[in-house]
Amino acid sequence: MTAVAGPRVARAEPERVTSPVLVGRREELAWLSEALARVRSGGTAALLIGGDAGVGKSRLVSEFGAAGGVSAGAAGGVSAGVSAGAAGGAPVRVLTGRCPELGAVGLPFAPFTAILRDLVRDWGTVGVAVPPGWELIRLLPELGEPARKGNPRSARARLFVQMVSLLEQLARQRPVMLVIEDAHWADESTRDLISFLIDSQRAMDRVLIIVTYRSDELHRGHPLRALLPRLGRLGWVQRTELSGLSRGESAELVGHILGGEPAASLADRIYRRAAGNPLFVEELVRADREPTATPCDLMLAGVRRLPEQTQDVLRAASVGGQRTGRGLLSAVTGMGAEALDAALRPAVAAGLLTADTDGYAFRHSLIGETLHQDLLPGEHTALHHRSAAALEADPSLVPAGRAAIEQAQHWQHAHDPARALSSAWQAAADAGRALACGEQLAMLTRVLELWRSVPDAERLTGGDHAHVLRQAAAAASAAGDRQLGISLTAAARQAAESGRPLAAM
Ligand SMILES: Nc1ncnc2c1ncn2[C@@H]1O[C@H](COP(=O)(O)OP(=O)(O)OP(=O)(O)O)[C@@H](O)[C@H]1O
Ligand SMILES: [Mg+2]
Repeated sequence: MTAVAGPRVARAEPERVTSPVLVGRREELAWLSEALARVRSGGTAALLIGGDAGVGKSRLVSEFGAAGGVSAGAAGGVSAGVSAGAAGGAPVRVLTGRCPELGAVGLPFAPFTAILRDLVRDWGTVGVAVPPGWELIRLLPELGEPARKGNPRSARARLFVQMVSLLEQLARQRPVMLVIEDAHWADESTRDLISFLIDSQRAMDRVLIIVTYRSDELHRGHPLRALLPRLGRLGWVQRTELSGLSRGESAELVGHILGGEPAASLADRIYRRAAGNPLFVEELVRADREPTATPCDLMLAGVRRLPEQTQDVLRAASVGGQRTGRGLLSAVTGMGAEALDAALRPAVAAGLLTADTDGYAFRHSLIGETLHQDLLPGEHTALHHRSAAALEADPSLVPAGRAAIEQAQHWQHAHDPARALSSAWQAAADAGRALACGEQLAMLTRVLELWRSVPDAERLTGGDHAHVLRQAAAAASAAGDRQLGISLTAAARQAAESGRPLAAM
């Protein structure tokens, strides 16, 4: 084959900010390989991997999944790739879904929706299909309505069982590695489904389940605090807590990032301050001339070195979470696609952001989180307002089924109670349709909380306070919270009798 030489275009090479090589983690890779080998030979295995933000959970799992094959990592945090898997043997299908950070209420079934959407895109090559009428269709509103209506509890049970069947079908072709990332942000429905899949795993041949979560986010009362030990008691479930790199590994990482051996004093200083956390090591290498700054200060300093306009767009992107679609960012900033690309090019070159065909993602979610926390109060409100308004004008700026819940969050942060109420009401309906009773209840609770501050709440919801309480009661019962269901039913009765709203729940 002859290569035709085109004109040489001078292009600024992005500064290397991550190591091309996975440093250390030999024991963890061996542990993952053993689990995969068990699954290949007809055994059952689920792995729960915790660790601080930035300690390297995603890198470990994605390197393991991709070893020897097609990379499983994709911008947007979702991928369904086939790779040989680190343990060797027949190729493994890696299905990865990430739980997005979205305020206190998650998107129902978000990682599973993303995995299914990826599979549907590849349906022809994957060779399995979701039969029409399956409840799973509810997770992909763009594919239409499922055929059967009726009791949400049994529909939800069918949906869970169908997810098992789908994994079984896929695993008949080749072993499946199902990776659910960032479970600390999982919505209630996702947690229920993860737990159901792990409980049912003995009936599923050749499916390895891996769940990652940030242990430093598990505050008292966090729902994973109860779930993880329960799952850990199952004989096929193993838990590990990923720790930071050792002093020697940290120095090795510094060397890989710099492209040469670092001075011992630099390696030492970085190790002391980052405590072996690879993300912090990366940040400290980038700015080793700022000895007193914390890693968060360094991330912000990295941003402040960029042109003003780039910073403005990055701040706008930070309200959308780790990843924002190009169309949405364009609408929020009022910039055309080309202008947006030009404005963000320095951030991509500095390794703060990655760009793909339809959007931008912060290289690490902590970068976006730090920027978001650093917004001035007025700026925070204004950016959420612009994001909400953009989605109100064009819901297709986010994937199908997400517009209402995202608007509900944005209007809430924009301090617009009427719109927050009406989008929460819509999001509750969407969640109900997706059989996500927990999210439905959370959204109805939001409606009830806002009720008193919105004079025309009845017009916006098309029903009175008692009606919303009855809906919440039904959602609570469907979600398995009988006690709350009973209290809400009593409150609904009282509201209907008195004809006026009660105090917020
Ligand atoms: N063992 C390693 N060798 C080289 N680089 C690493 C290693 N572990 C992590 N990194 C790098 O450190 C950064 C943070 O890692 P990663 O995103 O995997 O952390 P995480 O634990 O998944 O964090 P979060 O909780 O925010 O999801 C990434 O840029 C990653 O490439
Ligand atoms: Mg991660």
